[in-house]
Amino acid sequence: MKKIIILFLFYSLTIAQNKSVEERIDSVLVLMTLDEKVGQLVQYSGGWDTGTQTVRPSEAHEKLIIMGKVGSFLNVFGTESTHRLQKIAVEQSRLKIPLIFGLDVIHGFRSIFPVPLAEACTWEPELVEQSARWQAIEAASTGLHWTFNPMVDIARDPRWGRIVEGSGEDPYLGSLMARARVIGYQGKKLSDNNSIVACAKHFAGYGGAEGGRDYNTVDISERTFREVFLKPFHAAVEAGVGTLMSSFNEIGGVPQSGCRFLLTDILRNEWGFKGFVVSDWNSVGELIPHGVAKNLEEAAQIGLEAGVDMDMEASAYYNHLADLVNRGKVSLDILNESVKRILRIKFYLGLFDDPFKYCDTDLEKKTILNKEIVNATREVAKRSVVLLKNENYLLPLSKEISKIAVLGPLANSKDDPLGPWAAQGKPEDVVTVVEGLKNKLGNRTEIIYEEGCKIDGNSKEGFSKAVEAAKNADVVIMCVGESRGMSAEARSRAYLDLPGVQEDFVKEIHKTGKPIVVVLMNGRPLTINWINENISSILETWFLGIQSGNAIADILFGDYNPSGKLTTTFPRYVGQVPIYYNHKMTGRPYDKSNFYTSYYLDLENSPLYPFGYGLSYTTFKYSDLTLSQNKMNINESITVSVNVTNSGKYEGEEVVQLYIRDLVGSVTRPVKELKDFRKIILKPGETKKVEFIITEDKLKFYDINMDYVSEPGDFKVFVGTNSEEVLESSFMLIK
Ligand code: NOJ
Repeated sequence: MKKIIILFLFYSLTIAQNKSVEERIDSVLVLMTLDEKVGQLVQYSGGWDTGTQTVRPSEAHEKLIIMGKVGSFLNVFGTESTHRLQKIAVEQSRLKIPLIFGLDVIHGFRSIFPVPLAEACTWEPELVEQSARWQAIEAASTGLHWTFNPMVDIARDPRWGRIVEGSGEDPYLGSLMARARVIGYQGKKLSDNNSIVACAKHFAGYGGAEGGRDYNTVDISERTFREVFLKPFHAAVEAGVGTLMSSFNEIGGVPQSGCRFLLTDILRNEWGFKGFVVSDWNSVGELIPHGVAKNLEEAAQIGLEAGVDMDMEASAYYNHLADLVNRGKVSLDILNESVKRILRIKFYLGLFDDPFKYCDTDLEKKTILNKEIVNATREVAKRSVVLLKNENYLLPLSKEISKIAVLGPLANSKDDPLGPWAAQGKPEDVVTVVEGLKNKLGNRTEIIYEEGCKIDGNSKEGFSKAVEAAKNADVVIMCVGESRGMSAEARSRAYLDLPGVQEDFVKEIHKTGKPIVVVLMNGRPLTINWINENISSILETWFLGIQSGNAIADILFGDYNPSGKLTTTFPRYVGQVPIYYNHKMTGRPYDKSNFYTSYYLDLENSPLYPFGYGLSYTTFKYSDLTLSQNKMNINESITVSVNVTNSGKYEGEEVVQLYIRDLVGSVTRPVKELKDFRKIILKPGETKKVEFIITEDKLKFYDINMDYVSEPGDFKVFVGTNSEEVLESSFMLIK
């Protein structure tokens, strides 16, 4: 009997090459026992800490592979480790079904790119796609098939540490970035050996955590859910994403890892998604503390029936699914569907044809930290920086300066620029700001470095030496911000100020009267009112990855003119959050002359820096906003044009932004919504005409009946350099 099966298997996996993938999936499925089917839905970690060390599954895991009781591992990488486990799977398990290996490659495997929030500030989806492509090439060369990225959660609350992992607060920009990353990771074909499967996460609404506290309750209306939070997921699905990860949070009482409405009705029935859903780490098990399952068995049933195909680390499926099916409590058809979805991705990856295709040790050696990839990290890094302030044009600095004091706990940190979720990124690969300046200036300039204080803590002991250094210098560069461990998962903050005594440090140095440039490194918008009021130049650099120092030096000395724009609103104080540009009017919009309107007694409503904000060393003037017509039928379009002139001294790039507002609808509409943008480059004195096309598609929303339609009436059009500084016009939609 055994022989017959093996022969049969041989037939289905080799001769069957000519069959369609669906036929091949079916030919495997018929061979599988119930336990083997469940095995495909089980994922274990080769270790707890994602990407911090080379980890191997314990012997127990290897036995599971032989028994066909595990379909996937996370946190196992490196051609040697993946080859060893894959060999066990395809040589020692009965059905020889290959494993799929996944890792959180969030902004690089070893060659670390800027954190995703920083990359989004480029407003260049093509560049972000290229970054993801490089990340995939490097990750795939180490035996990985799958990344748990892109994280496409919309985040409106900077207290939430995971804001750093996504693209910011806007659903339109977020959708473009989601698409770019999916295409970048997955490449032309999944079967290419440098493509990895992407995973859009965390599905869904995770970014809406109450109080910005990670894993916390979420309660959003279906309209906002669909129009804001789900948009980037839909874009990822339309771009062909292979997998999604179900999130930890509940919405309106329903934990999302047990939400059939989301995981089946919307994802599969409405959007036609054909890949598979993996749970987040133990999120199926967490249906118990959430209070919708009384034990792990119930959790397994709810998870599978909702549409979670693969159980990451909860052991719920491992322990209970076979029994649930045997007792007739869970339908075999549902289980089969999940198995097929996982096999489908394994077939698409080409793992059945060559399970070792990602295990080429020579290629791995050649690819890791390959020069081209490292150069790309610098290119993306410099384009991710946002210039927040540049009074009196202190920047760019002259390369002729003779003495520079480089101060602050982040000035020479080898670790922090890697940012959170840095996989195999190593401090030894990082170029710090001090090193970057030395690389740029050589011996011409004396660079005096003083740490001054730690990122956190109360000690001011280092202040005096730093003050001395500042006094002796022509210009001071102060690198302050957060440590890499202060943002990402489980890293929520209740305060958004610079941690520790860093602000006091900046104040102390300010007293020297020397010109100061503040270089911020951080994973979320911070409240920096004092710095904004008192320091002439401020650069937001986030965490830029391994080439951080070189990229920052490029900017400081004008070898690159900053062109990034914020994709998250910067509040003045934490009491303003959640704060985002595309908010509603309310029935009592703020009116200075009316006490009973929407405002704070002790603070203005406006942010410190609005969405879309970012300066350049040059200046841009907007003029002649024109609409091709002021009335539009639903099947027509309007061309919006505007002239943008470089009115300054340097060549520079500008992100020209188009926003629209629907004035009266069957439901209320945001005060502004980003609908399009162009990044253009202009020489000094040059003017370019920028055009946008408005079609009905840009005007649709979920109406009072939850139908996705446009409604006739008046619209405002805004074009400008950020969400607040805009030119305005209007048109009417006729039906
Ligand atoms: C938990 C995180 O929420 C998720 O983003 C990540 O992909 C998994 N752990 C795996 O590391």
